[in-house]
Formats: sequence, structure tokens, C-alpha cells
Amino acid sequence: MHLTPQDHLFVLTGAGISAESGLATFRGSGGLWNGYRVEQVATPEAWAADPELVWHFYSQRRRNAVSADPNAAHLALAKIEEQLGDRFYLCTQNVDDLHERAGSARIHHMHGSLFQSRCTRCNQPFPDKALYETAATLPLCDRCRAPVRPHIVWFGEIPLDMDTIYRKLDRATVLLVVGTSGSVYPAAGFVHIANQRRIHTVYVGPEEPLNREAFDEILLGTATEVLPSLLREDHSNLPHYF
Ligand code: APR
Repeated sequence: MHLTPQDHLFVLTGAGISAESGLATFRGSGGLWNGYRVEQVATPEAWAADPELVWHFYSQRRRNAVSADPNAAHLALAKIEEQLGDRFYLCTQNVDDLHERAGSARIHHMHGSLFQSRCTRCNQPFPDKALYETAATLPLCDRCRAPVRPHIVWFGEIPLDMDTIYRKLDRATVLLVVGTSGSVYPAAGFVHIANQRRIHTVYVGPEEPLNREAFDEILLGTATEVLPSLLREDHSNLPHYF
């Protein structure tokens, strides 16, 4: 990937970037959780009907994420951020913290964070790594005693801080999308915004995403196969700059 000193890189990641760290993707093989589709446990309706099931799902995801490590693709993104500084922006649909643990700082979790919870009444997110797996342990707010929910954007809810995302997309000159099936909006529409602005778009993943026609380049391969060399190549292309 050739970047000039004027370029601003906007990266969008999805579940695929954490697949090689051992965290299951949502769709495709292995994409079910105890026989449920993610849409059945990640909705306000599921929460209203069965908060214990929902907390069970997110507790299990917390447990899996705690024991996972960042992989070479997370590390490659952290490294290019060190070089690009404020010309880099990472928007992830993932709720795990593997990007941060790899060293990424300019990162936004548009679908929330696995290790935060929030009171359904006060709405203030707070750090929380606890596991809630039985009805008796479901958490209540310390202040108002209302139920506490995962700080996750569920289907039918609005992703966090879209204004900043669109502002960053507006400044970007290159859009790099990694490991997302292109099936969940608004993230799946970022490439269409990039097309309207005529900026270069690249997809990385082992299969073509649903919105494949919109990309200028599709690099087929896993995130750890493709990203380290793709981003290292950029480095060697810019000896005058780095
Ligand atoms: N490297 C890169 N991509 C991979 C890898 C890998 N090793 N393994 C799988 N993939 C790709 C798959 O080909 C697929 O296109 O990752 C993608 C995962 O797609 P989804 O499971 O649909 O995940 P994502 O697109 O992130 O889902 C979007 O949907 O369930 C909601 O809120 C949840 O943020 C999530 C959103």
C-alpha cells in the first residue's frame, strides 16, 4: 500500500481480525453461539425477554477475550499508527480490547466495549470485567438499583459517536477494511461514502465481503497473512518520510 505524507488512513476492522486470536466471528462457520444466531442474543428484545441469557452470552465472550492475545494483524496496525500519528484512525466494530492491547490509541469502538457495562437508567458506562452467569448474580446499579447491561450496541441501536466517524471519513484519503462481512450497517456503508469521495478503498479478508463491488482492491488472505506485509510495504515505500 503506497501512502504519501498527505495521506490519511481510515481503518475499519471487524470480527475477522480477531479470528486468528481465537475469537469466533459471528457469521460463517463457527459463527453460532450455543445454537443461537447473534441477532437472537444481541438485541433490546432479547434483553427484555431474557437478561440472564444475554449476560451469559457476554460473560462467555468476556472470558474468551481475556484469554486471547493480539495477533500480528493487530500489531501491524498499532505499528503503522506510530508512524502516521494523527493521520491514522481506527474504527472497529469489535468489542474486544485486542487493538488496545496491541498498542492502538486512536481507536473508536463503534459497537461498544465488552469490558464496560452501564446502568439502564443512569446510562453511564463503567469498566467491568465480571462474569454474570446466573439469575442470582445479575448486576444492579450501585446508585439506583436499576439493571446493569453490557455497554454494547445491539441490533436496532445507534452506533456510538457516528459524528466523529463521519468527520474522520471525510478527511481520509485511503479506506482499509479488514475482516468484516459487509452485512451490518452503517459500517458496511463506509465504503460507499469513500466511493462518493473517490478515495482509494482496500478490503482484506479470506473471503469477499457482501459489498465487494464497492472496493477498488480486494486482497484475499487472512488478516495476519496480509496486513503485516501490506503495511510494511508502505513503510519501505516512504524512506523520505519515515
Ligand atoms: N482474517 C480476516 N478476516 C477473516 C478471518 C481472518 N483470519 N477469518 C474470517 N474473516 C472474515 C470472514 O470472511 C467474514 O467476512 O471476517 C468476517 C467476519 O464477519 P462477521 O462475523 O459478519 O463479523 P462483522 O462483519 O465484524 O460483524 C459486524 O455484526 O454481529 C454484529 O455487532 C456485531 O460488530 C458485529 C457486526
